[in-house]
Amino acid sequence: MFRMAHPVGERQELNTQTVLYGVFGSPVMQSKSPLMLNRAFAVAGINAAYAAFEVSPRNLAAAVAGIRALGFRGINVTIPHKVEVMEYLDEIDESAQMIGAVNTIVNDGGRLTGYNTDGIGYVRSLREETGFVPDGKRIVVLGAGGAARGIVHSLARAGAREIVIANRTANRATELAAALAAAGVIRGIGMEALPEACAACDLLLNTTQVGMRPLLGQSPLDPKLLRPQMLVSDIIYNPRETLLLREALNRGAAVHGGLGMFIHQGAYAFELWTGLPAPITEMRQIVEQSLAEG
Ligand code: ATR
Repeated sequence: MFRMAHPVGERQELNTQTVLYGVFGSPVMQSKSPLMLNRAFAVAGINAAYAAFEVSPRNLAAAVAGIRALGFRGINVTIPHKVEVMEYLDEIDESAQMIGAVNTIVNDGGRLTGYNTDGIGYVRSLREETGFVPDGKRIVVLGAGGAARGIVHSLARAGAREIVIANRTANRATELAAALAAAGVIRGIGMEALPEACAACDLLLNTTQVGMRPLLGQSPLDPKLLRPQMLVSDIIYNPRETLLLREALNRGAAVHGGLGMFIHQGAYAFELWTGLPAPITEMRQIVEQSLAEG
């Protein structure tokens, strides 16, 4: 039913007490989660193992049944299963419900609860790496896809004064704004209205794939819209510096890359599973090292 796509990232003694974890996705070969979470368990002295499982959409229900049957304590869920997996869980945390996607499952004695740590991971990374606090701020988010949902929700919940979602397909932006309206002041616009929104914003954030392979070397907006007073953030972490971030630096803006979001979404998952603070420094270090090695 499952195919192990990665060996365990770190040498550990596995025995009958080892608690099991993993990530379900397709494709999942490129995932840095096993490396990062096995490091976290090792540093925390927890007898656990985390593997990557290539799960096709038609096998998702069986894979979730396997969490219960085999007694996995926790699972991360990635593309393309974040929405569909919700059908198979016993409970969905309130935020994950509003976001409409789950990336973390906690198994309490066979009862599966779904959470979404992507957005809160982003906000924590922003605060820890740049000192930016969303409370009272004006924020422009580029993109209205799956990645934008959790981030917009968390920024709104963290007290943003206004969030403007700008998207190539304008009606996806207005639909997302409407879906998250209970979380804060959010509106959707088309790209033609971007200059006005950028003139007043404190944080500009890219959630589109523009800037990563195969759109490497492209930027999602005209660099003339970037101002030195802005913080410019990109959730892409490979490459570490996208064209958007390079242009922002050239224009004197502060920048924030996407690696921290990945680290912190994993850190929140670790904390949900173990009740312990995640060893962020070591988690970041092993992922950075792996990215540098290519
Ligand atoms: P994800 O889960 O990564 O957010 P998604 O749900 O497919 O993926 O959403 C992709 C986002 O990137 C969308 O906002 C998409 O814009 P559209 O809604 O107009 O498709 C945006 N995007 C992707 N390629 C783009 C491009 N070449 N130019 C501008 N926006 C792009």
